[in-house]
Amino acid sequence: MLHSHAEIRRRIDALGPWFHNMELAGVETAPNHFLGNYPLIKWRKFAEAIPADLTGKTVLDIGCNAGFYSIEMKRRLSVYDVGALRETFDIVLFMGVLYHLRHPLLALDLIREHVAGDLMIFQSMQRGSTDLPEMEENYHFWTHDLFDRPEFPKLHFIEHRYADDPTNWWIPNRACTEAMLRSAGFEIVLHPEQEVYFCRAAGDPASGGPVYPSKGQRHD
Ligand SMILES: C[S@@+](CC[C@H](N)C(=O)[O-])C[C@H]1O[C@@H](n2cnc3c(N)ncnc32)[C@H](O)[C@@H]1O
Repeated sequence: MLHSHAEIRRRIDALGPWFHNMELAGVETAPNHFLGNYPLIKWRKFAEAIPADLTGKTVLDIGCNAGFYSIEMKRRLSVYDVGALRETFDIVLFMGVLYHLRHPLLALDLIREHVAGDLMIFQSMQRGSTDLPEMEENYHFWTHDLFDRPEFPKLHFIEHRYADDPTNWWIPNRACTEAMLRSAGFEIVLHPEQEVYFCRAAGDPASGGPVYPSKGQRHD
């Protein structure tokens, strides 16, 4: 059945607000997005780095939102539940989700252990220094000045809100993003855009893998 332009507009608006601007039968879902034509403008900056032919590849889009990056994506689940999939994927998209999590390293550890078969395409908002520090393996207990260096890997904790969003919990600087990826057992193979990293599941996670806390009783 064909719907009129006005009917499609009405249905799109009823499902809003939209974070992804997509054109559905000629009608834009988020024409006034605060980041412009998003995520098309982001996608264009790194799309060339993705193989043109993905025939036969499996793809998992974690936190897919409206599904711009993976319009055919059928599965929606919390990143903390990826173990339940019991499957690894050739390509895992983990974009724009890390800073929305209260437990960001746990999420990376779980992705590494359970679903990252080969490539992970990762994106995070980043704030603070974009410099990369020379780091040593270890520091003396009385080394204090280290922590005042802006390029030291920092994960900024947002107790209340950032950009009006109460789900923005942790915002890394560049050095922190890269260190967390390495620490979770990912090798950074490409950095095609300021916030985007192509990583391979490689090497052992520094922690030996994710933790699985025991469930206690909830007292509601
Ligand atoms: C900024 S949007 C990014 C959407 C899309 N991945 C992109 O890059 O355009 C953040 C997304 O993270 C999702 N999200 C938040 N917590 C999550 C969790 N625990 N597991 C999976 N997705 C989560 C939200 O539902 C939302 O779709």
